[in-house]
Amino acid sequence: MNIKKTDEQYIAHTYKRFDLAIVKGKGCLCYDENGREYIDMTSGIGVNAFGYADPVWAQAVADQAKTLQHTSNLYYTAPCAELAQILCTRTGMDKVFFSNSGAEANECAVKVARKYAASHKGADYYNIITLNKSFHGRTLTTLAATGQEHFHHDFLPLTEGFLYADANDTEGLQRLVAENKVAGILIETVQGEGGVNTLDADFVKAVDRICKENDLVFMIDEVQTGNGRTGKLYSYMHFGVQPDVVSTAKGLAAGLPMGATLMSEKVSSVLGYGDHGSTFGGNPVCAAAAVSVLDRMDDAFLAQVAAKGQYVKERIEEAGFTVSGMGLMIGITTKKPVAEVLAACMANGVLCLSAKEKLRLLPPLNIPQEQLEKAVDVIIDAL
Ligand SMILES: Cc1ncc(COP(=O)(O)O)c(C=O)c1O
Repeated sequence: MNIKKTDEQYIAHTYKRFDLAIVKGKGCLCYDENGREYIDMTSGIGVNAFGYADPVWAQAVADQAKTLQHTSNLYYTAPCAELAQILCTRTGMDKVFFSNSGAEANECAVKVARKYAASHKGADYYNIITLNKSFHGRTLTTLAATGQEHFHHDFLPLTEGFLYADANDTEGLQRLVAENKVAGILIETVQGEGGVNTLDADFVKAVDRICKENDLVFMIDEVQTGNGRTGKLYSYMHFGVQPDVVSTAKGLAAGLPMGATLMSEKVSSVLGYGDHGSTFGGNPVCAAAAVSVLDRMDDAFLAQVAAKGQYVKERIEEAGFTVSGMGLMIGITTKKPVAEVLAACMANGVLCLSAKEKLRLLPPLNIPQEQLEKAVDVIIDAL
């Protein structure tokens, strides 16, 4: 089969693909149809936390697939219960709702915030404040949450009741809260798709404070920043804040679809029987994968993620370029068009990403130092 031709003919043209078909991978390396090797600095956009075909992950998935692959949410299953327990224990959250993607994890967060506000303040307190340059997903509600106008047009009307504040503008945020009937505030600590923009620590703390003072639901979208990516299990842990809701997905099951919405005690009983659901949410195979992922993300592992991120940052800065982000979520301001840098990296065997006009790196969290050094050499050349 001609992969590229068949794909072009039969798959909707919503993705502008690179001219590359990946046929297999191992660790941080992947291979095209001709056997050409690439160092992968993308991990499937922050998903493959342990790279391709990781043996521990693959074993957990295979064992569960051979035991019990799906039951529906009418029954209890062990992997789902165990995963929820691990997530709550490691975050101090009270309950979890499982879904299949980041967008769905955010949809759930919005439902929690709206129902909490409706029952505590009144049904007209439905507004959710998000930030300009944010990205929260592609469903009509999470597009509305996404503070980037260009994603909106052509799909109007979106879900109503979203307001946008500028990142790091505490006064502006306070004004929006004072002038509107607000249910909650949703932020990313590092805006991934928006250009790897890390929020100021003072601003993140101010969001926490404003939510507490006004009894708003403080939601952090950890879809991209979560599950070890920034060098902590969840990125909010860098900021000394305690959100009411954390949404996550991407790296959670390290290559299988899984979303999770973590709820603190304040909001954990908001959703009751019949309020929300998902056929595949909490699927035992995905949950077993996620349990195996979180089991390996101990303090020593997370410290290595931070150290590798620091290594990349220092090398790139020494070469004269500005770096943003945290841990192994890295943005680099390029001097030539980012498309040219991406092409040069790929031509020299390194796969990278972009975020707006920046070069973005999201390598597997366990990338060996030797491969990381090789990749950084190629990236500096390309820059
Ligand atoms: C911060 C953030 N939220 C939500 C999403 C949407 O996740 P998904 O594509 O799994 O629906 C993304 C995807 O890039 C993201 O980066």
